[in-house]
Amino acid sequence: MNKITIAVDGHSSTGKSTLAKQLAKKLHFIYVDTGAMYRAVTYFALENKLFENQKLNKEKLVAQLNQLEIDFQLNTNTNESQIHLNSTNVENKIRKMQVSQHVSIIAQLPEVRHKLVEIQQEMGKYGGIVMDGRDIGTVVFPGAELKLFMTASAKTRAQRRFEELQTKGEEITYKEVYDNLIERDEIDSNRAHSPLKKAEDAVLIDNSNLSLEEQFEMIKALVKCRT
Ligand code: C5P
Repeated sequence: MNKITIAVDGHSSTGKSTLAKQLAKKLHFIYVDTGAMYRAVTYFALENKLFENQKLNKEKLVAQLNQLEIDFQLNTNTNESQIHLNSTNVENKIRKMQVSQHVSIIAQLPEVRHKLVEIQQEMGKYGGIVMDGRDIGTVVFPGAELKLFMTASAKTRAQRRFEELQTKGEEITYKEVYDNLIERDEIDSNRAHSPLKKAEDAVLIDNSNLSLEEQFEMIKALVKCRT
């Protein structure tokens, strides 16, 4: 089995991480959730009061970026890798709605992107990796052997995300989830640096009407052609 690189990009809440994890498990590849890295920087900014009335103090954040250590460590109970910020496990904290509401502002900053892309490229330098995000096929690994671009209708995505957050006990309305997805996609797609867009050679997957099993079968066939 060739240790190829698989880039999974797409809109918010299209099941990128579920698919990427499934693939990595099946292929015995490393899995990296790059959204978690942008979320960790956002969590840091919120904790350190770098937002005032939704306005980010960019200069302060950029000046503190070199103090941020972000890495993934295996949780031996769940057998999944979890994100650590300065040696603290922040996996659950970064999934909160407050982080979702600020992350796209942080992800616009070229200084933040530069730092995180460098870490991502280092993690994937030997291949054998499935990485999900927004700019993996376009910027992080433009030479990836397989690129997927995931999408689904906004209603389907919001409903899935809403149910997921409810299961976790977060008090949230469907409308708040829907509005957040639309807002993030809008900012992510229109930012100046590394906007969310489909790489020309990426395979478009609209999973609005696909079950997880159907989707996985389809993608396994694509992987087979490349390994
Ligand atoms: O994947 P997830 O929805 O957790 O990503 C959260 C946010 O992080 C996205 O809405 C986007 O603003 C940012 N992001 C990014 N580039 C990536 C991964 C995530 O800009 N490669």
